Amino acid sequence: MSEVLLSVRSVCKNFGPTVALRNVDFTLRRGEVHGLIGENGSGKSTLTSIIAGIRRADSGEMLKEGVPYSPRSVVEAQNRGVAMIVQEMGTAPDITIAENILLGKEKRFRKNGLISKKAMNAAAGIALEKIGAGNIFPGAPTFTLNLEERKLVELAKALCEEPDVLIVDETTTALSHDGRELLYAAIDKMRLEEKGVIFISHDLEELMGVCTIMTVLRDGNIIGTLTRDEFDEATIKAMMVGRELTGDYYRNDYNSDVGAEVVLRATHLTGAEMVENVSFELHRGEILGFGGLASGGIHELGRLLFGIDCAIVGSVVLADGTQIKDASTAVKNHMGYVSKNRDEEAIMLHTSIRNNVALPSMSRLAKGGLILSGKEKALTAQAISSLEVKCQSMEQLTCHLSGGNKQKVVFGKWLGNDSRILILDCPTRGVDVGVKQSMYRLMYDLRCRGCSIVLISEELPELIGMSDRLYILKNGKINGEFARTPELAEHDVIHAMI
Ligand SMILES: Nc1ncnc2c1ncn2[C@@H]1O[C@H](COP(=O)(O)OP(=O)(O)OP(=O)(O)O)[C@@H](O)[C@H]1O
Ligand SMILES: [Mg+2]
Repeated sequence: MSEVLLSVRSVCKNFGPTVALRNVDFTLRRGEVHGLIGENGSGKSTLTSIIAGIRRADSGEMLKEGVPYSPRSVVEAQNRGVAMIVQEMGTAPDITIAENILLGKEKRFRKNGLISKKAMNAAAGIALEKIGAGNIFPGAPTFTLNLEERKLVELAKALCEEPDVLIVDETTTALSHDGRELLYAAIDKMRLEEKGVIFISHDLEELMGVCTIMTVLRDGNIIGTLTRDEFDEATIKAMMVGRELTGDYYRNDYNSDVGAEVVLRATHLTGAEMVENVSFELHRGEILGFGGLASGGIHELGRLLFGIDCAIVGSVVLADGTQIKDASTAVKNHMGYVSKNRDEEAIMLHTSIRNNVALPSMSRLAKGGLILSGKEKALTAQAISSLEVKCQSMEQLTCHLSGGNKQKVVFGKWLGNDSRILILDCPTRGVDVGVKQSMYRLMYDLRCRGCSIVLISEELPELIGMSDRLYILKNGKINGEFARTPELAEHDVIHAMI
């Protein structure tokens, strides 16, 4: 058994004028959990998608256990023992969970010329059971699952062929605490069986905990590889960005005196799912945090506040008495919403950055039925520069952006809308540390200009670091309220969550 599972040599990849990978050398050894880290657009997904047969390199070569390896498709890569959980949605919504897990392998379940659904469901059930997700019913259509469950289905799918190389691209931000534990257990098992894992995340702490070795990419170049004893947060960050990150990450004031003006009032809000009897007031110029376990109802609350889902009891009312019953009323009243489920709900993938950014601001950008294209372009240019969106031009299709850069576009959409109330559900999902810092700064600037923000997040440091006030939801109900103080620490809040 060769020690080196996979080697990548001098791989290059361009997308038009964009150099995504430049002479990349990368080695994965048995028993390694190999972290890949780098800023948004540095080439992590491109490199791993070439290894997984999703894309082809322009030049260079790869070896799998010493044998030339150049997969032309995902199936070919799978046959050579390489499986990947992609950063984007990796399941088709309209087929069943079993059909997703066993995609391309239906032949095995053919009996008398017919494919046995029962046998497929049973096999998929075993695959789900194996990763600890036996509660997911394989016969159901996939669209009935939430983001986290769909990611777990992808994990089951990746592992069902027992690969010796597993690639996990930016998956943990879609998972709750429990989901993460399942993923980590699967990774650990791979490591103990002397297989290899490539793990991509922007969470440095997580990477340092999970990985045995880490490689840093910047602008398509490999900057260096560190072994576990060399892991050091400051070193890694400096390698990533080519400079030291300075300045405060979160806001550093404790002046949460936001005044009495109420801009939104939720009263006895109860949704069909999870949210139960939630009442609160959002003030002008306030960042109001909502935290809790993913299953605690925080994401569902965001949907109710923006009118995407209807309340069965209770109401969301603005200062002038307008009741938010649907999303179009919300947009008309200068509300904005960043959905956690980016690719399906927050962005139009097959249209340009310009169209995405301008959409919520259309009423301002048009006159007499005509779009003022100068204004539209200026607005987009401003969003691109303030959020440092890495793109070829504002006309580039958003589906061609890296994951984190898509997230920046979603954020940019609502900045131009003169939003007065923003509902942000995991706004920093998948963005690198440098951009996170600028997003926090933007949120704070907006707040200081009188914008009110509902910040929904599963990351306690972010909530504690940014909120003027913080509510914790548990089982859909408010289970704790915390004021902004320098003393407020994670452990104070956690007991209200679990
Ligand atoms: N299909 C495509 N067409 C054009 N450019 C692309 C395409 N896919 C990726 N790119 C570009 O290649 C570069 C590398 O992107 P990649 O997705 O590999 O980044 P990443 O490191 O995974 O970033 P993130 O952390 O944001 O996911 C980026 O500049 C991106 O815009
Ligand atoms: Mg990526």
